[in-house]
Amino acid sequence: MDTPKEIFLKDYKMPDYFFETVDLKFELGEDKTIVSSKITVLPRIEGVSSPLVLNGHDLKLLSVKVDGNELKKEDYHVSSRHLTVSTPPSSTFTLEIVTEIYPQSNTSLEGLYKSSGNFCTQCEAEGFRKITFYQDRPDIMAKYSCRIEADKSLYPVLLSNGNLISKGDLQGGKHYALWEDPFKKPCYLFALVAGQLESRDDTFVTCSGRTVALRIWTPSQDVPKTAHAMYSLKAAMKWDDEVFGLEYDLDLFNIVAVPDFDMGAMENKSLNIFNSKLVLASPETATDMDYAAILGVIGHEYFHNWTGNRVTCRDWFQLSLKEGLTVFRDQEFLSDMGSRIVKRISDVSKLRIYQFPQDAGPMAHPVRPHSYIKMDNFYTVTVYQKGAEVVRMYKTLLGSSGFRKGMDLYFKRHDGQAVTCEDFFAAMQDANGADFANFLLWYSQAGTPRLKVTTSYNPETRTYSMKFSQEVPSTPGQPVKEPMFIPVSVGLLDSSGKDIPLTTLYHDGLLQTIASKDEPVFTTVLRVTKKEEEFVFSDISVRPVPSLLRGYSAPVRLDSDLTDTDLFFLLAHDSDGFNRWEAGQVLARKLMLNLVSDYQKNIPLVMNPMFVDGIRSILKDTSLDKEFIAKAITLPGEGEIMDLMEVADPDAVHSVRSFIKKQLALQLKNEFISTVTENRSSEPYVFNHQNLAQRALKNTALVYLASLDDTELTDFALNEYNSATNMTDQFAALQAIAQNPGQARDEVLADFYKKWSHDFLVVNKWFALQAMSDIPGNVANVQNLLSHPAFDMRNPNKVYSLIGGFRGSPVNFHAKDGSGYKFLGEVVLQLDKINPQVASRMVSAFSRWRRYDEGRQALAKAQLERIMSANGLSENVYEIASKSLA
Ligand code: PHE
Ligand code: ZN
Repeated sequence: MDTPKEIFLKDYKMPDYFFETVDLKFELGEDKTIVSSKITVLPRIEGVSSPLVLNGHDLKLLSVKVDGNELKKEDYHVSSRHLTVSTPPSSTFTLEIVTEIYPQSNTSLEGLYKSSGNFCTQCEAEGFRKITFYQDRPDIMAKYSCRIEADKSLYPVLLSNGNLISKGDLQGGKHYALWEDPFKKPCYLFALVAGQLESRDDTFVTCSGRTVALRIWTPSQDVPKTAHAMYSLKAAMKWDDEVFGLEYDLDLFNIVAVPDFDMGAMENKSLNIFNSKLVLASPETATDMDYAAILGVIGHEYFHNWTGNRVTCRDWFQLSLKEGLTVFRDQEFLSDMGSRIVKRISDVSKLRIYQFPQDAGPMAHPVRPHSYIKMDNFYTVTVYQKGAEVVRMYKTLLGSSGFRKGMDLYFKRHDGQAVTCEDFFAAMQDANGADFANFLLWYSQAGTPRLKVTTSYNPETRTYSMKFSQEVPSTPGQPVKEPMFIPVSVGLLDSSGKDIPLTTLYHDGLLQTIASKDEPVFTTVLRVTKKEEEFVFSDISVRPVPSLLRGYSAPVRLDSDLTDTDLFFLLAHDSDGFNRWEAGQVLARKLMLNLVSDYQKNIPLVMNPMFVDGIRSILKDTSLDKEFIAKAITLPGEGEIMDLMEVADPDAVHSVRSFIKKQLALQLKNEFISTVTENRSSEPYVFNHQNLAQRALKNTALVYLASLDDTELTDFALNEYNSATNMTDQFAALQAIAQNPGQARDEVLADFYKKWSHDFLVVNKWFALQAMSDIPGNVANVQNLLSHPAFDMRNPNKVYSLIGGFRGSPVNFHAKDGSGYKFLGEVVLQLDKINPQVASRMVSAFSRWRRYDEGRQALAKAQLERIMSANGLSENVYEIASKSLA
């Protein structure tokens, strides 16, 4: 393989040619598809001709014409990746290209491919070049039409973007449909679907009175499972109307569910294509988590219509412009539809579990990366989740109405354009006359800032000081960092646990007024911008307990001088729900790290009774939201603890976490049993906050109880399993029982498979549960499941369940004998031949190999080297593996 080429942000150049209109024709066939494209091309500078370079990926070129004349051989050059027209006309001309492609053998799932017999497309980021030669870059925006011709009985439904202009029958049992999209778009938003599908239909009336036809397409037998997706779509449309004044802009909105899809879903203009698992749900087959994910992702893709489609990215480095913003929007949507605090807790957990490790490893990159080899590798938790945190900080600084003003100005300035992160920043700042100092560093500096706080109270001056110091760790290519602009939201609690009104603050030698006593303010946002900086609150009559970084106001690692007593106090009293949970987590992390060190020194483990009492009082606090309780009694994950260690020790962390879990189960057994019995419900399943919160709490308690591996409690869980009337409860009971190896586990797993073998989405849950299992020696079980008749390497969902799931068990993936690494290494090489994007996501599990002991390092490194030396390795896997070894 030639060494793959790295592409740099600093090399961005405007295109020499723009495309005005693109008329596509697809003749879909069983052994080949003919794609004809007719493009109106406009030189950027009238009168100037330069070579026109088009991207193409393994296309068979049939013909190329300029202004109706077939080009002579010497006037163009074609390679496996490009078509170059040497001297095109220097003013507007038409370019016509015909290519032949083979969707039926396309296993990469980008470009045009087949999924269960139907044709569908995936063009983001650079899949359109697998369909036809094109300037495949998002700053080329054009108006598209698309004519589809196909066999009428095999492909009765023909869909593309925009409006249906005409359709009719053709000779030879074929038919056609002509679609036209009135909005200019980059080619990554193009989509086509052809197949045997049926739809659930509904309508939505927008705030200005436009009636939009909504259709959700699936194979006919799945239509009954689209009710929740339709509910979600209508809820999302209403929310964007109300919260952002953003209305849908066409008369038709289609969603198609396909079983083979690399990612979650895709926001193609008016024709969203979804991974089936994010559309199909019924109470019997989907859990509350699935229902919530569907609501969130349907919202996410719908919200892209404005943040992504109407205003798009100039180049792929700007990906977070649309993704960070749209994730932020879907987070806000779910907050408004359920519990804001619980949603915040889940989002911050996700950031800590997945993004912090990425930001501290060899693949660390800024929210706006500086370079890439394969763009596919940069659809990351950094671009998405940290990007959403960056957007959230604007809102924290500006408030809801200021943020809305910024959004309005962004659309006013940039509707119909392909823009950059600076444009978004400028809109936020200009709309509010704000000064955001060096805030843009959040886009360019990688690494999670560490923020240290030391506090002191002076009873004589009645002042309370907070001293901050920050450090941004070095990351690949960025050894030295500048201090960042960190918004720190804080409050102070008095000795009874009540918020103290904040009135004045000294900072930089200036006295600032926060608020008057008549209109008390209890939370204020400090702008920390320097390496070291002090803020002094005045008029504080008693030593307070500080509540720092309320709502997690910035994506940093916070170190504070809070004592355990302070933390227990915050856990019991903080008015900021997020920080109540956080106090419990900080305590749990400390406890776990202390026990890990005992374990490593062979000191017998002893449980801290204060911690048990803390959990007990949360569990029994009837004033608390039940979903919040479920979160608050859940320990930080093993990965999170390993992330805090000098040398990650999966065995020690696993033993300690299991120990604490069992201690809590033992000491709070009666409380957990009554939590289960009191939260059972005989009502039919409804997906609403109150009901799902009740289920979450009951099921969390059940998992604790079953961890004890006591016959009586296993029977108790078995009874829950057998009496469950929905998948949430059934699956939770299955998980509870499957924690411990043995006959009960084997029987219930077999029973579950027998019940659900006809439903591939449920079977995936069954794969994932077993793959993630911590039972000893699980590598062999996972290996065996690879040859299970229901498993198929070509289907990404199955790979994510079984192979992806396996990475979720640190003790087994990091097995000391290297069996877990060897297993993954082999699978990656097999997968790479089928689907490089999926393979590359799997190989990333190796990227933090340097965090482990020498023995494990050597074993993991050997697998990475083996992967690197494979013939015909994809650029996707090459990029991750080589950067991991660097
Ligand atoms: N743009 C999609 C989203 O909404 C993600 C995606 C990227 C899907 C690339 C497919 C391919 O986040
Ligand atoms: Zn998105």
